[in-house]
Amino acid sequence: MKVQLKVNGRASEVDVAPNTLLVTAIREHLKLTGTHVGCDTAQCGACTVLVNGRAVKSCNTLAVQHPGAEITTIEGLAAADGTMHPMQAAFKECHGLQCGFCTPGMVMSAVDLCKRHPNASEQQIREQLEGNLCRCTGYQNIVRAVQTGMAETAKA
Ligand code: FES
Ligand code: FES
Repeated sequence: MKVQLKVNGRASEVDVAPNTLLVTAIREHLKLTGTHVGCDTAQCGACTVLVNGRAVKSCNTLAVQHPGAEITTIEGLAAADGTMHPMQAAFKECHGLQCGFCTPGMVMSAVDLCKRHPNASEQQIREQLEGNLCRCTGYQNIVRAVQTGMAETAKA
């Protein structure tokens, strides 16, 4: 099936089997490999992207369900000149990552939360990130990064 996907502001037509996952279309058809696959069963959050501004686990939805939707992946967050999004910069600054495998999904979930709750409490941040698993960091620096990213987003 041919489906029109709009990813990071760019419209592309992909030719996929009807059961192709959105994450597969993003990684294998559009070659945007910043979106990771950890569990493939909607548990780890490594595949999180924004669909019309909301965080979605892209291993848990089909590409054909999203024609024309505004999809944003980690590659689409930085400014055109390469300046990192404040949330990306905060993860770097606060050491909110170690191996980095979970990081794209964490950042996308945090960006979604930041839009809906710009003054989210630590509790709200932890609840939002419940669906994003990290094997390395112990989460403390991730929470600090999200708090910093929120404060910097508010200033931007
Ligand atoms: Fe999608 Fe783990 S790969 S939630
Ligand atoms: Fe390694 Fe999170 S930094 S899984």
